[in-house]
Amino acid sequence: MTETLPADEAAIARCAALLREGGLVAFPTETVYGLGADARSDAAVGRIYAAKERPRFNPLIAHVADVGAALGQGVFSAEAARLAVAFWPGPLTLVVPAGPGCTVSALARAGLGSVALRVPAHPVTNALLRAAAIPVAAPSANRSGRISPTTAAHVRLDLQGRLDVILDGGACSVGLESTIVSCLDRPTLLRPGGIARHMLEAVLGTALAAPARHEAAVPVAPGLLGSHYAPRARLRLDATSVRAGEAVLDFGGQLAEAGVASVDLSPTRDLAEAAARLFAALHDLDATGAAGIAVASVPATGLGVAINDRLARAAAPRP
Ligand code: TXA
Ligand code: MG
Repeated sequence: MTETLPADEAAIARCAALLREGGLVAFPTETVYGLGADARSDAAVGRIYAAKERPRFNPLIAHVADVGAALGQGVFSAEAARLAVAFWPGPLTLVVPAGPGCTVSALARAGLGSVALRVPAHPVTNALLRAAAIPVAAPSANRSGRISPTTAAHVRLDLQGRLDVILDGGACSVGLESTIVSCLDRPTLLRPGGIARHMLEAVLGTALAAPARHEAAVPVAPGLLGSHYAPRARLRLDATSVRAGEAVLDFGGQLAEAGVASVDLSPTRDLAEAAARLFAALHDLDATGAAGIAVASVPATGLGVAINDRLARAAAPRP
């Protein structure tokens, strides 16, 4: 049985207790909804993989309430500390060497000597993490390969019956997963996300390195793109016109023709607005049953890099 509860004080307290007891709780963050479990417990973390039907045990992000809690888990280089202070709480994940005080389980870290840490900015997440007072492992609350959830309803559609409680805190404001930076060596961008690269580089005073292919959370060559965020409908990227039977995912009013259904991510070409709407738009257009979705081009600058990454994955050939 899965209950959905409005994220009030009582529900947050109950979910914090559930997490401490090894339960599975979906909760809102500023990026996407997370499927959370006690990161210290292999058994609890194992339930996440089972619920998501993840084919592989890839490492998960451990969410903590504040910078102090993060510093207790990892070893922060001067650069990692600069990024933490500048962007936490917020949509940034830092991969750092696990510290002597690290309590994140081997399963959540996939056996690695490093740990991925994030301090979310959403008030509900923060209240939950403070009340639970444990690191919470949380990938996006969707079945493996499906579109990431930005509302409680999206989580219900995908995972109903597979977790204990869905904490409903409304729609996510950023709408894209966190940016992941590895600080094991030179700071390296592993996944574009809710914080644009130039903002990170402004704080660091240097360019972020590109990942070696084997450590890339995001494969760079289109042929290597894993199929993720996959709607049932086929996506046709950089469309300049609409074909019969297609739904339309527009940006800045480029595709004037009305398709089966149409969403403009941002009529004013605001990339933050487009990011916040992206996954909900894919969910909605897919629900129309259209065979294909014509997708207008989105500029690959700032948050547009992460938007294009998610679109490319949604359009990638299925396994
Ligand atoms: O916005 C987000 O980051 C969301 C919300 C719920 O916080 N979470 C999320 O988690 O996207 P997940 O599990 O889908 O993303 C984890 C990513 C994976 O791509 C994984 O490869 C990378 O983080 N990762 C985790 N630990 C790592 C490590 N030790 N080294 C390298 N990459 C790591
Ligand atoms: Mg995900």
